[in-house]
Amino acid sequence: MSVQDHVIIVNQFHPETLEQLDSTYHTHHLWQLERQEQKVLLESLEGHCRVAASASWMCDPIIYRLKSLELIAAFGVGVDGIDFETTQNLNIRVSNTPGVLDDGVADLAMALILAAMRNIVAANKFSRDGLWSEGPFPFGNSMAGKTLGIAGLGRIGSAIALRAAPFKVNIAYHNRRPKEVPYTFCESLEDLAQISDILVCVLPGGDETDNLINASVLEKLGPSGILINVGRGNSIDDDALTNALKTGSIKAAGLDVYKNEPHIPDAYQTLDNVILLPHIGSATQETRRSMGHLVFENIEAFLQNGTLVTEVK
Ligand code: NAP
Ligand code: 8YV
Repeated sequence: MSVQDHVIIVNQFHPETLEQLDSTYHTHHLWQLERQEQKVLLESLEGHCRVAASASWMCDPIIYRLKSLELIAAFGVGVDGIDFETTQNLNIRVSNTPGVLDDGVADLAMALILAAMRNIVAANKFSRDGLWSEGPFPFGNSMAGKTLGIAGLGRIGSAIALRAAPFKVNIAYHNRRPKEVPYTFCESLEDLAQISDILVCVLPGGDETDNLINASVLEKLGPSGILINVGRGNSIDDDALTNALKTGSIKAAGLDVYKNEPHIPDAYQTLDNVILLPHIGSATQETRRSMGHLVFENIEAFLQNGTLVTEVK
């Protein structure tokens, strides 16, 4: 078996992709081993293995012990699970799966927006509980004429804007730098929240975005405001959001991502005005398959000629 044939699978992700990797390379599933066995495996692969495949949002740092490691092919676009200080020091390259999940995540963001605006989850329960005969369901709100604020107008944020435009909303955004787009740029998240009826967060994870959606931003969003998060859970100050939902200083929220997944803070579970999804933005058969193909293409390109299709710079 040649050096190129060995691939370490750091943790469990998309089963179909893992099967494809298993049937193409000599794979070593690190996540299935006890700590001591992992150390033994990594020692035995030293000098024989250059590639690891990992989920993008988590990556066991034990992998950095392997000195011959040259590539981490990550499944996912948000690479907050990778320790870039270490990969740079060790000259390990990283690839991810940008672009192919934009449509899936944007679809889900729209679903959350509409569900929150029209109170779909409660309406479903209301119907099933037989409450319709006792009176009408409370009115929701229309999309037309509202302002949708996008925190993080990148690939996914732009796909959300394209979907939202036909709903006749005004679109505004906040990034660190303005872009050449026909949407209103806001210098700060507070400014964006101030003019938004719906604030959608698509910010990446990491220290720079920690708790950016805080009490001050929520206060600016106001009592009829709706917050949606399909970016990363660390961007939200959970205490501030819980408080805002409880006191009515914002109207409702829709969350797909959380700080310590798969744990969802208990405080959210007790509130009716927050929709809680289990991180399913990219969870369609088609999207996950495309993400897997991109992981595979990156590994193939790297092993064949040292290039990467989608390298994280
Ligand atoms: P992207 O194209 O890099 O877009 C990120 C945007 O955020 C950029 O426009 C960037 O603009 C802005 N930004 C970054 N840091 C910022 C900061 N500190 N303050 C303000 N704006 C900032 O990334 P993407 O492909 O759209 O993905 C975005 C994130 O979505 C991923 O990182 C991941 O965490 C999350 N995600 C979630 C799911 C899900 O299932 N829910 C699926 C895929 C991805 P500037 O650089 O100009 O600031
Ligand atoms: C995850 C994501 O990869 O790409 C990202 O950054 O958050 C998702 O697509 C997905 O949740 C896999 O479980």
